[in-house]
Amino acid sequence: MCGIVGYIGKKEAYPILIKGLKRLEYRGYDSAGVALSDQNGIHLCKTRGKVDDLSAKCEHLEKSPRIGLGHTRWATHGEPSDVNSHPHYSNSGDLVIIHNGIIENYDPLRKELMNRGYSFTSETDTEVLVNLIEDVMVNEEVKLGKAVQVALNQTIGAYAIAVMDKKKPNEIVVARLGSPLAIGVGDDEYFIASDATPFIEYTKDAIYLNDGEMAVLRTHKPLKIRNIKDDSLIDPYVQKLQMNLDQIEKGGYDHFMLKEIFEQPSAIADTYRGRMLADRGIINMSGIEDNLDKFRNAKRIIIAACGTSWHAGLVAEYIFEDIARTPVEVEYASEFRYRNPIIGEGDVLIAISQSGETADTMAAIEIAKQNGAFVFGVCNVVGSSISRASHAGAYTHAGPEIGVASTKAFTTQITILSLIALRIGKEKGNLSKTEYFSYLRELELIPDKIKKSLVSNDHIYLVADAYKNAKNCLYLGRGFNFPVALEGALKLKEISYIHAEGYPAAEMKHGPIALIDEEMPVVVIATKLGHYEKVVSNIQEIKSRKGKIIAIVTEGDEQVKEMADHTIEVPETHEAFTPLLTTIPLQLLSYHIAVMLGRNVDQPRNLAKSVTVE
Ligand code: G6P
Repeated sequence: MCGIVGYIGKKEAYPILIKGLKRLEYRGYDSAGVALSDQNGIHLCKTRGKVDDLSAKCEHLEKSPRIGLGHTRWATHGEPSDVNSHPHYSNSGDLVIIHNGIIENYDPLRKELMNRGYSFTSETDTEVLVNLIEDVMVNEEVKLGKAVQVALNQTIGAYAIAVMDKKKPNEIVVARLGSPLAIGVGDDEYFIASDATPFIEYTKDAIYLNDGEMAVLRTHKPLKIRNIKDDSLIDPYVQKLQMNLDQIEKGGYDHFMLKEIFEQPSAIADTYRGRMLADRGIINMSGIEDNLDKFRNAKRIIIAACGTSWHAGLVAEYIFEDIARTPVEVEYASEFRYRNPIIGEGDVLIAISQSGETADTMAAIEIAKQNGAFVFGVCNVVGSSISRASHAGAYTHAGPEIGVASTKAFTTQITILSLIALRIGKEKGNLSKTEYFSYLRELELIPDKIKKSLVSNDHIYLVADAYKNAKNCLYLGRGFNFPVALEGALKLKEISYIHAEGYPAAEMKHGPIALIDEEMPVVVIATKLGHYEKVVSNIQEIKSRKGKIIAIVTEGDEQVKEMADHTIEVPETHEAFTPLLTTIPLQLLSYHIAVMLGRNVDQPRNLAKSVTVE
């Protein structure tokens, strides 16, 4: 939800900001803007639309300033428009702000400021905040840093902000609560961004602000971090980034999503590399080993997540119950946080999040911690808020995922969760030696089996062509592949805007069967291991109602082939790992349909990759 970027140093700020905004566009892309500051004042350029529209609009902007801010927006308060775009000026025109998050008490603050003579040009909560800061500066006669601090202590909500003062063209003040903010530390220069991708080619030294922290960035001066509430000084912790530039570029693919689908064999190998030695029967992850007792003795595992990560949680439920024999509940984080959940000591909460920034998942973690549960984070983004808020955790190491529709994050989440389940299953003595070794060996073969599944890409393109004009689509699966059906349907609706539903195959007869006619494509996951005969019966039921069947089958299957309109083969594997293979053709099917329909695959309408608001 919104990407923020900033620069202060010796270089021209504008190209750094624009390139940075392009990299952060996955966070929101309905409007964008930049502000550049020099001795002559602050120059602002913003527009509804994407970063490319912004560059076109800023053609005549003076590009020499060495300090500036940029923003790419996902609208919360106020529709996408030029006026609602960030940055926002304060009333005097002295201050400029960019903001990612929501100021929840913006309405009373706005009214109070209006009573004091302030006026507002936009509908945003952000314009309220910048004027509140200005009001503090004027009334309390304090400098920008102090004014930001005082103003933030009057707000309720979430923010990552950066503020500049016209009168001080060598200073940026930043602060965070609930929304991410990374500071790249260069040679007498600083970069600010929602994640580290905008500055990866300039510096590998990054400081991730923690919630409730602010910093004043000035050239020729060391950076100072303070606690927003009590003003105490905090020692900056500089982290070395592992990311490189190739990982965040398209590498010859037409879209990030396609690149990320094809990266899955290597991403999964990276997930288990160094953690699993299949031939020696070793699984070793420090986050698990250090807390083995908690997992072994857990009364219950509660998985909290959103979107695709929630689907990975559902797959994990099957795997944990099957292998670790621990009861599992999978919760939408957004529901969990507003119930009065029964959770406490002896429970383990696993929070799954690609970005590690999802606001609802963060809130679920807080509730679990307050009630004494042990929290284990499964995140992809290193140093993210969820990874830091958890008691322990494991990174998926999938590499940056930029396409808004999640692909490799899903399969690597399943991989790491499988490793955890296997480690606990072994610890609890639930698996014979033979079973345990066979799981590990099979998991090691998954990357090669995905490579084989990807070979069907051209065939899947033809299937996509046959169904690209469908208005609705049903996805069915059973057991481990029921969550895959949900994920397949989500992928299709997210990027093609075709209505799609995922169902447990047997539930079809309790409702969805009424929808089936010759217009309705039904994608059925019908692999050999996984209630095959039952799914075959479901396929017959669809056939007799003239539905069109696209079946995902195990290599060499003949029975379903005779019944289905189209079949897509995947290699055979352990039933528990079939989701890692059956997901692949569903990702490709959605991708090709979306491209054929001319959709913006990497940045589908209304969505954002990182949802840092409720
Ligand atoms: C958004 C994204 C989804 C993602 C979900 C959860 O809706 O568009 O792709 O699955 O957030 O995100 P997380 O980063 O917590 O996995």
